[in-house]
Amino acid sequence: MFTERIYNFSAGPSMLPEPVLKRVQGELLNYGGTGIAVMEMSHRSKMYLDIFEGVKARVCEVLDIPEGYHVLFAHGGATAQFSAIPMNLIGEGSADYAITGNFAQLAAAEAKKYGRINIIYDTSDKNHTYIPRQTDLKFTPDASYFHYCANNTIFGTAWDYIPDTGGKPLVSDMSSCILSEPLDVSKFGLIYAGAQKNIAPSALALLILKDGLPVKPITAIPKVLDYNLMIKNDSMLNTPPTFNIYILGLVLDWIKGLGGLTAMREINRAKAAVLYDFLDNSAFYNAPAVKSARSIMNITFRTPNEELDAAFAKESAAAGLANLKGHRLVGGMRASIYNAMPLEGVKKLVEFMGNFERKNS
Ligand SMILES: Cc1ncc(COP(=O)(O)O)c(C=O)c1O
Repeated sequence: MFTERIYNFSAGPSMLPEPVLKRVQGELLNYGGTGIAVMEMSHRSKMYLDIFEGVKARVCEVLDIPEGYHVLFAHGGATAQFSAIPMNLIGEGSADYAITGNFAQLAAAEAKKYGRINIIYDTSDKNHTYIPRQTDLKFTPDASYFHYCANNTIFGTAWDYIPDTGGKPLVSDMSSCILSEPLDVSKFGLIYAGAQKNIAPSALALLILKDGLPVKPITAIPKVLDYNLMIKNDSMLNTPPTFNIYILGLVLDWIKGLGGLTAMREINRAKAAVLYDFLDNSAFYNAPAVKSARSIMNITFRTPNEELDAAFAKESAAAGLANLKGHRLVGGMRASIYNAMPLEGVKKLVEFMGNFERKNS
């Protein structure tokens, strides 16, 4: 039993910024003098459309989205996009995928149902501890797009560069890194992200889709996955995840208040450095991801053996440092330190790790 909020290192759904939660709490019953809660508003009402338009404008502002892109809100998290992407974009050709982790693998497996998929790189030979270099990427001439997962949530790796496809549309799953740092949106055909890390509660997906990208949906496409229809209906083909979109607006206000994505990157780098510096100076813990591929959002590490890993997970949870047990595909531990995790939380974790090491060495 905890009487205060604890530090939650969950990979997702994960912590939301406390000021956002407090604002939701304050506005929950009666939003802005309307007398009703946001989740009770018709999505077609003027009061909700004002919120919706405001959120879209703030997405463009905070991510500095250039002209010629659509901001779309979708149902079904990132996983629905694993299907929607090939259904909309593969057309007559094939599609190139890089497998750098579990979600990249799932995206490719789903895409295979709808067309010819070329796995142009696969890092499973070293249990996804590294990221291919640009020169390793050999694109297929008839590929309609190249898909990669920018941050591998389970394995704790991230691409340290934006791949250059030589003009082929670039599609990126940014579920676990969006809004963590500035992004050159102009390099992408499609960016998509499930919400439950840096955006809002789960089930919403944010899409940033380049206008004019050849969207040729397959004939039997479900209408809620049809990008042309989503664009035409301004993400309101049916009832959108209204409350989640509103929370995204509050999250964006919070990021703006901190100084935008440039400031957010500095904060995130500083947090990650505290943990990586500690790991690099410890003979007890081991961090499997190669240095150039280290994620600043999900940090994986191990103790010397599985019994100690289990003891670590149990004792850290009891100390108010929750959800540090690594994913079953990797074992060990994983600290997910998304935007909302305060520096104080990472310092507390490192202090705990030091004590655990001393006790068990
Ligand atoms: C990188 C990445 N892609 C996709 C997903 C799947 O997201 P969802 O559960 O929203 O479908 C996750 C989930 O954690 C993820 O981390």
